[in-house]
Amino acid sequence: MMQNAKTGAQRASWSGKWAFILAAAASAVGLGNLWRFPYLAAKYGGGVFLLTYLVLVLTFGVSMVLLETALGRRTRLSVIGAFRFFGAKFTFIGVLGAAVPFIITPYYCIIGGWVTKYAVGYIANGPAALADGGDFFTGFISSNVESYLWMFVFMAAVFIVVSLGVQKGIEKANLIMMPALIIMAIGIALFTLTLPGALDGAAYYIVPDFSKFSPELVINALGQMFYSLSIAMGIMITYGSYMRKEDSLTSSVTRIAGFDFGVSFLAGLMIVPAAFVALGSAEAVAGNAGPSLMFIILPQVFNTLDPSFATVVGFLFFLLVLFAALTSAVSLTEALVSIVCDGTRLSRGKSLTITIVFIVIVGVVVNAGYNSLSFIEPLGAGSSLLDFMDFISNSVLMPIMAILTCVFVGWIIKPKPLVDEIEISSEFKAEKAWVAMIKYIAPILIAAILITNVLPFIIG
Ligand code: TRP
Repeated sequence: MMQNAKTGAQRASWSGKWAFILAAAASAVGLGNLWRFPYLAAKYGGGVFLLTYLVLVLTFGVSMVLLETALGRRTRLSVIGAFRFFGAKFTFIGVLGAAVPFIITPYYCIIGGWVTKYAVGYIANGPAALADGGDFFTGFISSNVESYLWMFVFMAAVFIVVSLGVQKGIEKANLIMMPALIIMAIGIALFTLTLPGALDGAAYYIVPDFSKFSPELVINALGQMFYSLSIAMGIMITYGSYMRKEDSLTSSVTRIAGFDFGVSFLAGLMIVPAAFVALGSAEAVAGNAGPSLMFIILPQVFNTLDPSFATVVGFLFFLLVLFAALTSAVSLTEALVSIVCDGTRLSRGKSLTITIVFIVIVGVVVNAGYNSLSFIEPLGAGSSLLDFMDFISNSVLMPIMAILTCVFVGWIIKPKPLVDEIEISSEFKAEKAWVAMIKYIAPILIAAILITNVLPFIIG
């Protein structure tokens, strides 16, 4: 138990540094790594995206996670409270951050539903049915009954876990599922690399072709980084608020970012070369890469195996994606419950009910974007409501939140209090670089990218 810096209230804390790292890693590793990262890498030129992403994670990503965890540990408050701590007029930054998971969670559950459907599909329909080049997938998401059903199945699993409380069940489950996930990912990556033509795909994924570099690539890499590391939405502030003063912030943060990057890298290594095998050329891979990559191309690759083997590999693959999705969806929902709780002062039970009603309603509307409401194409022809939600949170709100956070710490409260906080538990060798990052590099860079990418949508 620890004292809150302002109110002196008792507050729970992690049992140790590793409990924090595992919890943060389990919430960070999710659909972002397994579903979103590979399709972005395939779409934006492979190696050049991978390299840009890595550079962003090592510089800006690590700096932001460090900033947020230090802010949380310093104030011992979660996102809204942490900003309000320095003055009521800063509350809005916290509110903006808190809004982001409200946008993400409903559509996260839709994709969770797709993953559930596919895991079950390998058993119920068999590997050939799922590998029909896209009709199965399109038929499923555009159905007026089935697509909703699987979304509800996924949501129900999430709501049950959250209503039971996270600690005992989910933390133990993480301990088994996370290592299993890594082993499976390595196994499948090795397998796809042995397929004929896969090495060309691996080269596309790893060797950067700088002619494919673009500002659009950078904003997508940046948005992906926020999403995958769960930054610029207050989650890491909350996690940091539970951390003990004696555990090193710098080393925890590097481990979390390293682990998260490692899983994304592996996911790309299993999916991008597989897409190459199925589609044949870099152009075809880039042209076909989108949210459906995992659901259309990968089953075609699995289907080249002996049928019973394909069933097992396909099932295990989607089961592991499902585990990763569940742990993240649980922690997203948990975050919403605590925001509603703090904001309304209602009981946890009532806050959970409000959260559930919200997720279900928004989930239904966004899912309708693939069927009854498919005429709505918010980002141009072929785009869906889900793409729109993803764009608003990852490419618009999170960059804005990140700029505000950097300006707040760099110029308003000044980096000193957070540097002191970091130095309580470890030496801070990169202090100068970190301060330069927070004060100048990050805000200017993100603002530039944001303007070049979002403006075209606003002015048409
Ligand atoms: N990082 C998660 C992923 O990669 C998604 C996510 C975004 C998340 N924000 C979060 C998970 C907040 C838990 C809490 O899939």
